[in-house]
Amino acid sequence: MSFTVAIDGPAAAGKGTISKAVAAHFGFAHLDTGLLYRAVGAKVLHGADPLEAAQTLEPIDLDGEHLRTPEVAQAASKVAVDADVRAALVAFQRQFAARGDGAVLDGRDIGTVICPSADVKLFVTARAEKRAQRRLDELNGKGMGLAFADVLADVEARDKRDSERATAPLKPAEDAVLLDTSDLTAEQAIARAIEIVQAAR
Ligand code: C5P
Repeated sequence: MSFTVAIDGPAAAGKGTISKAVAAHFGFAHLDTGLLYRAVGAKVLHGADPLEAAQTLEPIDLDGEHLRTPEVAQAASKVAVDADVRAALVAFQRQFAARGDGAVLDGRDIGTVICPSADVKLFVTARAEKRAQRRLDELNGKGMGLAFADVLADVEARDKRDSERATAPLKPAEDAVLLDTSDLTAEQAIARAIEIVQAAR
């Protein structure tokens, strides 16, 4: 029997950290679906056609630190507006969710569109300033030397584009559990998420 955990939320809310920890705790596989859009965005920055890039995406394209830059994040959120690009990525995500050993998928539309009957749906949020500070620490920890104001602007621009698009906008599923991580440590947020998943098993 498959068991699917859908984790959605805005940029840098802690979805990745929580998803990895939940997957490790329960022995589930984890798919960061943002990487699909980032990989398409990266190809478009190199001149590719967005739809063709989405249709020909290979597992190897999802690898690499070059996908973690603010430029690629912006390019990802621009290609993610395109309904055809999104449609080209649906089958891969649903197949991943249906694996027999349990799966955690994190993104923007997992609970609403990709896996509407997921066993657990979490919507992870935090105040924009907190999210920007965390993303700043993460990127500058890798030596990028960015300014807080630029990272905040990047996060807010993506949230706006992701929330206002016509196809699969960022929003909590009606049956999602909201988890605001603004005033939680990573450990506290992870513990809460594990509790919520455990209760649904
Ligand atoms: O989660 P991450 O920041 O890596 O996502 C990059 C971008 O990809 C998001 O800003 C969003 O536009 C898009 N995305 C999406 N649907 C998903 C995952 C990501 O539209 N399920």
